Amino acid sequence: MKAITSLTALVLGASLAATALAQETTTPAPAAAGAGAAAAASGNAPAAEGAAAAPGGATGGSDAPVEMAEGQTTLPNGMDITPATQENGRWYNAEGIPTFKIDGKAVDFATFNGFRRYHAECHVCHGPDGEGSTYAPALKNSVLRMDYYEFQEVVASGRQGTNSVMPAFGTNKNVWCYIDDIYVYLLAHGTGEIGRGRPAERGEKTDEYKAQEESCMSM
Ligand code: HEC
Repeated sequence: MKAITSLTALVLGASLAATALAQETTTPAPAAAGAGAAAAASGNAPAAEGAAAAPGGATGGSDAPVEMAEGQTTLPNGMDITPATQENGRWYNAEGIPTFKIDGKAVDFATFNGFRRYHAECHVCHGPDGEGSTYAPALKNSVLRMDYYEFQEVVASGRQGTNSVMPAFGTNKNVWCYIDDIYVYLLAHGTGEIGRGRPAERGEKTDEYKAQEESCMSM
């Protein structure tokens, strides 16, 4: 698969979201989660169509804890997280999938931004630091099992759980323009390369990043 640019990702997201508009429902308050929510959060709810072929999803929920050995660069889903190229201020592996880069103690800007965006848009349901809640799965583990495209599809189109709902975000620019940042932040935390909380040190926000951000937000 070729490198996916944020622009094509946005278009993909918008079209996925359009087909999913019908299933978009009012967001229920996480506080309303009952006993059934735990089952839904375990990831055993019916998978979205097209997601069934994703590797690693056969046993257990995709948010079950994952053991990563020190220095291991291949995820359970087969993805190599080694950063290879930089484009528009973001890092990608050799296949063009977004990944994170840590320089000494500093995370790249996109990963830092992903921390902020995650806590603005996702943590109310998925818990601080992607650790999960009784209502929604631990995304720090989900991203190690789901592949990047499946992750995008769920976020763009949403998903109906047994007693819970994952809203569709494909037309929400505050999420979709930063979806790769949220993804790489979750990867960085899920692999244990960064701990909980706001990363203390971060790289510069490059001019390329700013330009890409402005063009996405003005689409
Ligand atoms: C209103 C609550 C809510 C919000 C806000 C929310 N989610 Fe979810 N999300 C859920 C629920 C509930 C599920 C489980 C649905 C199911 O059972 O299939 C879920 C599932 C997911 C999954 C699939 C995980 C897996 O292991 O199968 C991904 C990926 C995901 N959400 C990403 C996000 C991201 C990224 C954000 C922020 C942009 C976000 N979610 C915001 C409720 C939410």
